[in-house]
Amino acid sequence: AEMTPEERAFQERIDAEIKIEPKNWMPDAYRQTLIRQISQHAHSEIVGMLPEGNWLTRAPTLKRKLQLMAKIQDEAGHGMYLYSAMETLGADRDTEIAKLHSGRAKYSSIFNYPTLNWADMGAVGWLVDGAAIVNQVVLQRTSYGPYARAMIRICKEESFHQRQGYEILLTMMRHGTQAQQDMVQDAINRLWWPALMMFGPSDADSPNSAQSLAWKIKRMGNDELRQRFIDQTVPQLEFLGCTAPDPDLKWSAARGHYDFGQIDWQEFYEVLKGNGPCNRERITTRRKALEDGQWVREAAVAHAAKRQQKQST
Ligand code: ACO
Repeated sequence: AEMTPEERAFQERIDAEIKIEPKNWMPDAYRQTLIRQISQHAHSEIVGMLPEGNWLTRAPTLKRKLQLMAKIQDEAGHGMYLYSAMETLGADRDTEIAKLHSGRAKYSSIFNYPTLNWADMGAVGWLVDGAAIVNQVVLQRTSYGPYARAMIRICKEESFHQRQGYEILLTMMRHGTQAQQDMVQDAINRLWWPALMMFGPSDADSPNSAQSLAWKIKRMGNDELRQRFIDQTVPQLEFLGCTAPDPDLKWSAARGHYDFGQIDWQEFYEVLKGNGPCNRERITTRRKALEDGQWVREAAVAHAAKRQQKQST
């Protein structure tokens, strides 16, 4: 179909690497795709606080507890930042959060897995935030200005998260007992494949990729990012002295990349449908948090009304 002048100007801007800003004209499908991706991303940050919150009261030292608390607070900040970026597109925060709470919105599959031992706090920081960085570094160049700028700050904080996670694991491997070293390997065994699933389905099965790449919302395909993550992570895995639960993982000199085994896509789609190990628990916890905070919101509104009344008299 012929492009309208507006559509042509929009695509020229994208092609010239000029950011699209909230007040610029944009195709409705571009707006809806961004609202979808940014809201899912924001939900992921918020739900992502829960697996780690599980270990706050049981962190082994005060220092570890402070680090973990700081990281979880960063994630809350990322969520708020992303909801704000989403609002610049005209979406309503309460509406989108209501979709999350009624199970109609997606968030990253990874947060539907349990965190069973302290080494999971290391493995989540290292693998989950590590995967998030690989995905988000590229999104710093996404075509929508507010989202791109949010990613710059978020990536800086994510790299602190990744390092603190790796340092937890390195400490356990270098100075820990055999039981603690076994916990590290156990955490990696459980989180390795789910971390690889974070990048989404293979490009051929990714319904949104082609259009999102053309609009430069996405700058790289799911498979390319997944491969980049594996290539970066395997040397770190070896430095830890651990292994991945993948017998097919090996360096390919011919490809210049690590080969790896088949991802269990059936498991991925079950988690997306709400049938992962913790989906129900996560949503129930979020809903309860909203209900428990109801009196705080009511008190804040009442307080604001009183103050306004005082000022006007
Ligand atoms: N978990 C849950 N849903 C997923 C996942 C995943 N790991 N991967 C893909 N999906 C969903 C997509 O959201 C899409 O859903 P929808 O079309 O019903 O809305 C569907 O599966 C098909 O996938 P794609 O066509 O590949 O979707 P998309 O182009 O949006 O790519 C991706 C998915 C790569 C996750 C992209 O949305 C993205 O880069 N998002 C920003 C990063 C992000 O959200 N990170 C969150 C985890 S990191 C963190 O928060 C610490």
